[in-house]
Amino acid sequence: MSLTDQQQLEQRYMLHTYRRKPVQFISGSGMTLTDDEGSTYLDFIAGIGAVSMGHDHPAVTRAIQEQAARLLHVGNYYYIEGRGELAQKLSQLLNAACSAADAAPWRTFFANSGAEANEGAIKLARRHGSLHLSGAYTIVSAMRSFHGRTLASLAATAQPSKQEAFKPLPSGFVHVDLNDIAALIQELDHPSAGTVCAVILECIQGEGGVHPCSLEYLQAVREETEKRNILLIIDEVQTGFYRTGGQPFAFQHYDIMPDIVSLAKGLGNGMPVGAVCARGEIGDCFEPGDHGSTFGGSALAVAAANATIDAMTQQGIAEQVVEVGGYLQQRLSGLPLVIETRGKGLMLAAELSKPVAAQVVDACLEQGLVINNTGPSTLRFLPPLICTITEIDLMIPVLHDILSAL
Ligand SMILES: Cc1ncc(COP(=O)(O)O)c(C=O)c1O
Repeated sequence: MSLTDQQQLEQRYMLHTYRRKPVQFISGSGMTLTDDEGSTYLDFIAGIGAVSMGHDHPAVTRAIQEQAARLLHVGNYYYIEGRGELAQKLSQLLNAACSAADAAPWRTFFANSGAEANEGAIKLARRHGSLHLSGAYTIVSAMRSFHGRTLASLAATAQPSKQEAFKPLPSGFVHVDLNDIAALIQELDHPSAGTVCAVILECIQGEGGVHPCSLEYLQAVREETEKRNILLIIDEVQTGFYRTGGQPFAFQHYDIMPDIVSLAKGLGNGMPVGAVCARGEIGDCFEPGDHGSTFGGSALAVAAANATIDAMTQQGIAEQVVEVGGYLQQRLSGLPLVIETRGKGLMLAAELSKPVAAQVVDACLEQGLVINNTGPSTLRFLPPLICTITEIDLMIPVLHDILSAL
């Protein structure tokens, strides 16, 4: 079906929650996407950071095909192959940067998306608050954060423009400025809305424009929460699975240990799968019946996630992301109009001196480059982690010419 026909059908039969770009992708391979007219594009956004190992990764595709032919789904009343192994892999990755003495096992609940993973994290933190903190239930998050679009994850998402139309949101959420430890301590000690049970943070705010927590801030947050027995939830939905290079998770660059971590995006290479992971005895707070999901941890999702993680390890992606991400950041910083670059590994933003980011994104698409903007002057890059210097060298001249003309 042509793009025009598809547009007409969506216009008539879909809820208009997205302003889509005028392109219909029909296939992908590695870093490359192909549209319905056979034009190819270099993908520097990877399904918003989800297609971690590239489109049609041979091992992931094979695992999905084989699993689909055997068993898709039976529901969470039963055991299935691979789920325990996947949870064990997550525990090992979450403990990858800590000493054996600190390596308490992590326990996982599988969900289907990042928002659902955060819902699980919020519920677990509230359960912990009710059991161990005299009923504390308030969750503190950072201004400009993004944690999802369900009502509770939206309440944690401190972006008034996204929240406004859906009020009243669930209560028990407060927001403080990022990287301001005094503001957080004030909220922990003199709560403005109920006693605090948890703080939720992204190590690098993704949708908010690629803004990192400073090292001192995140370490101080950990110290101050630990002192008060308040949980620290790290949302690794966008930063997780080597996105920031070197380590599996961004929190590991900060030398801290969270209590709860939420995951999704890169875990399934495009298959919807999310996870909430609880460290050590925090996991004891959930009992059978406290939380659930029909599809979470389905046989298909588990097969995709196991294959994705195995591919990351086998392909040495941790080191590749450091090298290629460093190169991308250096090339971006030399471009016209770029006044700042932010981020780590292959999660990068280029801040422009003019509010022309949307125009740049559209011009890139016309020239076969898929990038994205998180604000009027912020370009964002989240390529598949298999991205190499070759693709960056193809992208930069195109971007250079577009920016020079503005
Ligand atoms: C940090 C973070 N948390 C949560 C979410 C929500 O994930 P999902 O869209 O899979 O619900 C996102 C999505 O961009 C995200 O970046």
